[in-house]
Amino acid sequence: MKTTNELIADSNTYIMGTYARLPIALVRGEGARVWDADGKEYLDFLAGIAVCALGHAHPQVSESICAQARTLMHVSNIYHIEPQIRLSALLVENSFADKVFFCNSGAEANEAAIKLARKYAHEHTGEERYRIITMRNSFHGRTLATLTATGQERFQKGFNPLPTGFEYVPFDDLTSLERVAAKDVCAVMVEAIQGEGGVRVPRKGYLEGVRKICDDTGALMILDEVQTGMGRTGNLFAYEHSGVTPDIMTLAKALGNGFPVGAMLATDEVATSFTPGSHASTFGGNPLAMAAGLAVMDTLLHRGVLDNCRKMGAYFREQLESLKGNHAIIREVRGRGLMIGVELSIEGADIVKRCMEAGLLLNCTCGNVLRFVPPLIITRKDVDRAVAILDGVMRDL
Ligand SMILES: Cc1ncc(COP(=O)(O)O)c(C=O)c1O
Repeated sequence: MKTTNELIADSNTYIMGTYARLPIALVRGEGARVWDADGKEYLDFLAGIAVCALGHAHPQVSESICAQARTLMHVSNIYHIEPQIRLSALLVENSFADKVFFCNSGAEANEAAIKLARKYAHEHTGEERYRIITMRNSFHGRTLATLTATGQERFQKGFNPLPTGFEYVPFDDLTSLERVAAKDVCAVMVEAIQGEGGVRVPRKGYLEGVRKICDDTGALMILDEVQTGMGRTGNLFAYEHSGVTPDIMTLAKALGNGFPVGAMLATDEVATSFTPGSHASTFGGNPLAMAAGLAVMDTLLHRGVLDNCRKMGAYFREQLESLKGNHAIIREVRGRGLMIGVELSIEGADIVKRCMEAGLLLNCTCGNVLRFVPPLIITRKDVDRAVAILDGVMRDL
């Protein structure tokens, strides 16, 4: 095995520079811990950015993938796929949705949602109904349509012309949404909690308000749960904290615990607008991906993971709140379950780097929001260690 420095040199030689990577190369993981190529251990409170919800190398997920790989790795979606049928049934039985479309990432799930909303509107009210409203500071992906849906100019710069028909309003602001919502809007697309936008939890009643505006104008409500879904907030899906359900929901990240899986779920009423030929994916819903998803769903639902997420989320926030008392640079601690943001009065990149050097992985969004999205299986000891490292780093600043 090459050393960290050798791997970094090769990485810079052969891989396109689309990521501002930190100078470590992770080669192994177990639970909430990962090791780099030089053998150094880290406590992983980023978990692939909310992907490895059950921790690294989870035995049931790994075994399920291995068993499926020995049985049948891929067949085309022109045939019925047994593990795909089982996973879609599980998702439907445990959500508002009636039907599922599988793909490979969050962007693809949102792309599918955008296409479905447009198709539904075209069929029910005509082709002039195509506008989609999304939120400022949102994040929905990097394909041309989802990057246009993403309400942040910095991601869109350099890629004109962008697809037409997208408009933005401030997040958590029903008055602005009401002002632009009209009969030619086919969908409102929103995250339950903005992740990349700085771990922003909307006010109580916000999703209910979005639902009502959609109902009043006949627009579909698309809920992007790519980051908040699959247990991250303490419920299987974040919309369960509200009193409403969307028409369409997108999932990815933790659905495969690290194996690429995306899904777009919808009610029967909406899903019927997708017919043979409307949309497709060669790899979407393939047996191997479904084996990962099945093990994730089974573990989330039956092994007390959601309960641990709620308990550890509350404990972690309590500890971070008490850290706030000692460090004036902490402006606010916010989040839900184990999706937690710590807003600073200074830039966060240096803290992220120092924490990494001290053995704790996290990241920073929006320049000054430290983001913690650890595996949902973390213990009090893990939380205590993370808080101690963060405390030490902040003291040394
Ligand atoms: C809310 C949300 N939607 C969509 C995406 C895009 O997912 P992917 O990177 O799998 O395409 C992300 C990724 O961070 C996300 O947080």
